[in-house]
Amino acid sequence: MSNKPRVLSGIQPTGESMQLGNYLGAVQNWVQMQDGYDAYYCVVDLHAITLEPPEPEALRQRTRIVAAQLLAAGLDPDRCALFVQSHLPEHPQLSWVLECLTGFGEASRMTQFKDKSTRAGADRQGVGLFTYPILQAADILLYQADQVPIGEDQRQHLELTRNLAQRFNARYGDTFVVPEAFIPKAAAKILDLQDPTAKMSKSRPDAGTIYLSDPASVITRKIKRAVTDTDGEVRYDPEGKPGLSNLLAIHAALTGASVEAVAKEFSGQGYGALKGAVAEAVVAFAEPFAARSQELLDDPAELDRILARGAERARAVASVTVADAYAKVGFLPAAVG
Ligand code: TRP
Repeated sequence: MSNKPRVLSGIQPTGESMQLGNYLGAVQNWVQMQDGYDAYYCVVDLHAITLEPPEPEALRQRTRIVAAQLLAAGLDPDRCALFVQSHLPEHPQLSWVLECLTGFGEASRMTQFKDKSTRAGADRQGVGLFTYPILQAADILLYQADQVPIGEDQRQHLELTRNLAQRFNARYGDTFVVPEAFIPKAAAKILDLQDPTAKMSKSRPDAGTIYLSDPASVITRKIKRAVTDTDGEVRYDPEGKPGLSNLLAIHAALTGASVEAVAKEFSGQGYGALKGAVAEAVVAFAEPFAARSQELLDDPAELDRILARGAERARAVASVTVADAYAKVGFLPAAVG
């Protein structure tokens, strides 16, 4: 048992590779939190079928890819529990009870649901998209997480999670820790290279997004073509110079320097010099990262063993929470034998 505060976070297995914004905005922080926290990290494959479900083989492959990339990024199975959501039936088990405590109107107000269902089209949306945030609440409450590292876009889901925890506790007695959002101030918010008003994202055109599996030549080309401005002055000014500031932020996040220090280093030099240095820093990270991920993917049996170990650690916590919550609700315990 550990007396460190507990964290839980989740990542969807979408696409064939993590992108740079994901790593710098979230995963780098997960890696750092392994030391000061009792850390649980979940590949949320159940959430990955709430929109157009991927081909089964693609889903399996993506789940392994995310897991391998998280390990390559520095998650250490000895210092955190890394596991796959669908390996633990406790997630849907708790989710059901929480669904029964959620108001229809309350769920209807989730902005991500509204956005995603509008984009999917009225006849394409499944009920799973509607209950998505409640499954996310179960992911968090099962582990009695104190802190939940998330991006700004997940704040509303965390608010729902807190409300559900409080509602359950008020009705049935103290059961769940009411978690806090952990939104690190320092976490780099990386923007699209072609449209620096939008977050870098897999759902945007390729030219603006750096995938950590991109070959060096592709990374360099994408950075060289990044949209900047025409005043020619290197200065950190996210409002006035979003494209250039984004490049400074990428460099700073990868080298551990402050954006101001990077801006100072390149002030008086052309944008070309800065772009060259940013490309170099990204490639220096991406190349060994891709090699390590591939090594892990080349040994799927070992990867599966790591995930089985993570699931075992997760189950030790999750099964206790579900048993407690089910007993409090009044479900008759299953007799043994
Ligand atoms: N909805 C989150 C996202 O899209 C992923 C997620 C699922 C999650 N379950 C979670 C994040 C639990 C934090 C905690 O990023």
